[in-house]
Amino acid sequence: MKGWFGRGKKLPAGDSDLRENIPNHIAIIMDGNGRWATRRGMPRIAGHRAGMNKVREVIRACDELGVRYLTLYAFSTENWKRPRAEVDYLMRLPEEFFRTEINELVERGVQVRFIGDVTQLPTYTRETVTQTQRLTADNSGMVVTFALNYGGRAEVLQAIRHYAGQVEAGMTTWEELTEESLARYLSTFPAPDPDLIIRTSGEQRLSNFLVWQSVYSELWFTEVLWPDFTNTTLYEAIRDYQRRKRRFGGLK
Ligand code: IPE
Ligand code: IPE
Ligand code: MG
Repeated sequence: MKGWFGRGKKLPAGDSDLRENIPNHIAIIMDGNGRWATRRGMPRIAGHRAGMNKVREVIRACDELGVRYLTLYAFSTENWKRPRAEVDYLMRLPEEFFRTEINELVERGVQVRFIGDVTQLPTYTRETVTQTQRLTADNSGMVVTFALNYGGRAEVLQAIRHYAGQVEAGMTTWEELTEESLARYLSTFPAPDPDLIIRTSGEQRLSNFLVWQSVYSELWFTEVLWPDFTNTTLYEAIRDYQRRKRRFGGLK
């Protein structure tokens, strides 16, 4: 069955203890590309390119660890505020990334999803999104979700609007609106909430990422800039996660 080969097999011997209690869903705020480039005297876009290569590595590493869901914050609804040339460059990256990666993703059985408002994306980016989703839709391995033009508040608002439409159409009622029923209208449905959210580059905030879904996620911050992120950084985050006591408001 596609999507299940190699799981956990490539872990270095010293890291085999990691296999116990692997987070089911890891989400990453991939931050620090611009600073990485600036520190090297390069244009910010060089940082985005280096960051793209890290996406390939982190997908491989998570697949090999047996992570079921990986969600990557690639472009926020606020990132349109950046200079036009930078936004244009970022919008070209998915096309290039999936052109080179699609074979390996299919081979691994990865299912690629996108969350965020794709209708606002340039045509070529939208086509990549549609095509990649189509080519990987039947895969049964790890689910990799790219948050592209994504904002958590916009997502919740969209869910409420959608629900209101269903009420108006007589398909449901306001009385039936619960946390569970609303969650079905979020773009992340049916993925479970993230267990671990990693943010690179030293910033300690969510920046509008998964606002509804993150209420009980374990947060892990590192000074490492995204283009410097390695498997070692990932393992460090997971080890830290494994030491934590998750109580969800109850008692141990
Ligand atoms: C993250 O890196 C990538 C995106 C937000 C698209 P940044 O571009 O935010 O890098 P810094 O934070 O300016 O260093
Ligand atoms: C968050 O990073 C968005 C992504 C990583 C895609 P930003 O660099 O946009 O966040 P702020 O502006 O520092 O909060
Ligand atoms: Mg940033």
